[in-house]
Amino acid sequence: MRTWIKLAATVIVAAAVVGCSKEDETSKGVIGISLPSKMEARWVSDGDSMVEKLHELGYKTDIQYAQYEIPTQLSQLENLLVKGVKGLIIAPIDGTTMADVLKQAKEKGITIISYDRLIRNSKNFDYYATFDNYKVGVLQGESIVKALSLDQGQGPFNFEIFAGSTDDNNAHVVYAGVMSVLKPYLDSGKLVIRSGQVKLEQVATPNWDGSQAQSRMDNLLSAFYGKAHLDAVLAMNDQIAIGVVSSLRGVGYGNGGSPMPVVTGQDAEIPSVKAIVRGDQHSTVFKDTRALAEAASLMMDGALQGKPVAVNDTTSYDNGMMIVPTQLLAPVLVEADNWKKVLVDTGFYSEDRLR
Ligand code: BGC
Repeated sequence: MRTWIKLAATVIVAAAVVGCSKEDETSKGVIGISLPSKMEARWVSDGDSMVEKLHELGYKTDIQYAQYEIPTQLSQLENLLVKGVKGLIIAPIDGTTMADVLKQAKEKGITIISYDRLIRNSKNFDYYATFDNYKVGVLQGESIVKALSLDQGQGPFNFEIFAGSTDDNNAHVVYAGVMSVLKPYLDSGKLVIRSGQVKLEQVATPNWDGSQAQSRMDNLLSAFYGKAHLDAVLAMNDQIAIGVVSSLRGVGYGNGGSPMPVVTGQDAEIPSVKAIVRGDQHSTVFKDTRALAEAASLMMDGALQGKPVAVNDTTSYDNGMMIVPTQLLAPVLVEADNWKKVLVDTGFYSEDRLR
């Protein structure tokens, strides 16, 4: 009897070991994914697409969202290191806070990709995968120029800027792109900023938080637009645009005599696409998160398997410590006349979700 129990136990343990090694053999290892927050739909689609692609490539994944809290993101990363990940794909909340944890990661030989947002002040990562953020700003600026016919000499128009979070490198790059297009019109007086707030630090929105943008718009409207009409708002992403539009609606914009200003955006999030269809928001910038997730996953696989890693920019992204080899993807402007073609025909959204 005893022998029988021993034998059975051995068989069970052996089966468990075989099961284990079989699983390890079929997996190329675990990739940790660290994203800023689940509050914005874009990061959720980035995450879902990366998990799908990495599984397809033979990896397991461990995905963490940090709810816009820097200490949370850092401790999530430390936990991923303890769990023994082979690679990390990180979109930092604040690109300057990563140095210590990345040093630990590099000491363990982990491959690290900075995702969408640039990690700053560290040499301890390998690649950067992002959209061309300067181009995002150019597209937003051009959308305003076209809508107001500024290039045909129209104006002056009242204009305000609502930028992203200054701890996110992207806000700086997008701002530079916007200014490359709009500065001539600010200089010539065709665009007039009644608040006088133009520097990035003055127009920034901490954590790209729509409710903070809404309160700032409330304040600007009551302080500077009692009688004057606001004609255009550079909103740097869709969360900000939605906050701005709510504030404008609250004081009667968008009704008969007081048309909604031209409001830009970024990310093609569903509430904003709906606002474009209704005419409350003028434009957004679509960044196909499926494509970025795929690019980053392939870069990770290439680096881990010793295969070539696709990069198309080795000069632009200086993070303060090194020029980071980067894969840049192209953003696309979305307005009332092309949302269907860009967002529905490509299968990104089904049309019923946008009406
Ligand atoms: C991203 C934008 C996003 C913003 C807020 C930026 O780094 O590039 O797509 O809207 O963060 O999450």
